Amino acid sequence: MMDALGEPQSVLVLGGSSEIARATVKALPRARLRRVVLAGRPSDALDAAVADLAEAGISGVVAEQFDATDTPSHGEFIDRVFTAGDVDIVILAFGVLGDQAEAETDPSLAVTMATTNYTGAVSVGLHVARRLRVQGHGVLVVLSSVAGDRARRSNFVYGSTKAGLDAFAQGLGDALHGSGARVLIVRPGFVRSRMTVGLEEAPMTVDPQDVAAVVVTGLRKGKETVYAPGPLRFVMTGLKSLPRPIFRRLPM
Ligand SMILES: NC(=O)c1ccc[n+]([C@@H]2O[C@H](COP(=O)([O-])OP(=O)(O)OC[C@H]3O[C@@H](n4cnc5c(N)ncnc54)[C@H](OP(=O)(O)O)[C@@H]3O)[C@@H](O)[C@H]2O)c1
Repeated sequence: MMDALGEPQSVLVLGGSSEIARATVKALPRARLRRVVLAGRPSDALDAAVADLAEAGISGVVAEQFDATDTPSHGEFIDRVFTAGDVDIVILAFGVLGDQAEAETDPSLAVTMATTNYTGAVSVGLHVARRLRVQGHGVLVVLSSVAGDRARRSNFVYGSTKAGLDAFAQGLGDALHGSGARVLIVRPGFVRSRMTVGLEEAPMTVDPQDVAAVVVTGLRKGKETVYAPGPLRFVMTGLKSLPRPIFRRLPM
């Protein structure tokens, strides 16, 4: 459990090879960190994440097999991780960006995006919440996106999955209110990571380390929602208030 200093002893990353999640684990206070479970699909990237965190001096880093789309397995998986020991921080980091144009011509690709980003998150998120409630402490960090704040023509399939995820995470946070456990929603803008390699950078682009710093500060301050970078909150407030005919014409 989090000690008196509020420092985590154990972390579970769902989407264990995520670059944002990896940077976040590295940025957490680590004096008391003893267990890090990187849950993901077996891959070189997952192995590399385990090795990288261990090299950074973080102890107790292990990989576990987890597939966001395999929802029937989620309950047993979460029970196994929590039964082995309390989990202070769960980072829900899995997600696919997909390709909007391909998704429009082949809706089965859109279904994969929705199944991973939304359905998978609803499934595992509810199982995590069930165990956090029993623990009476812990934080579920949900990697949402500004793309979910308002759907854009250029990536509305991804944006809609994140809008659903974000709404789910808000409600889950309210459901956990008073239980001792909570939810931190993270809304990054464009982040330079594996997910965005080769894409044209947007204004206010940041690195995974910048998102990590925002997450760590948000955890320390007990925030419910953070943007990365922080000022994107004001940009999104402005964008959300634009009338549709104007919003549609914006080059984004
Ligand atoms: N990069 C950005 O600009 C940006 C902006 C806003 C929000 N986000 C969100 O931040 C989160 C982390 O993204 P990132 O930038 O760190 O990208 P990343 O390194 O590509 O991480 C995405 C992670 O999702 C995992 N994943 C995908 N499908 C999965 C499945 N079916 N089961 C289990 N894991 C699965 C990937 O694992 P595999 O190695 O197995 O594919 C990978 O670990 C995502 O939810 C993303 O939508 C990213």
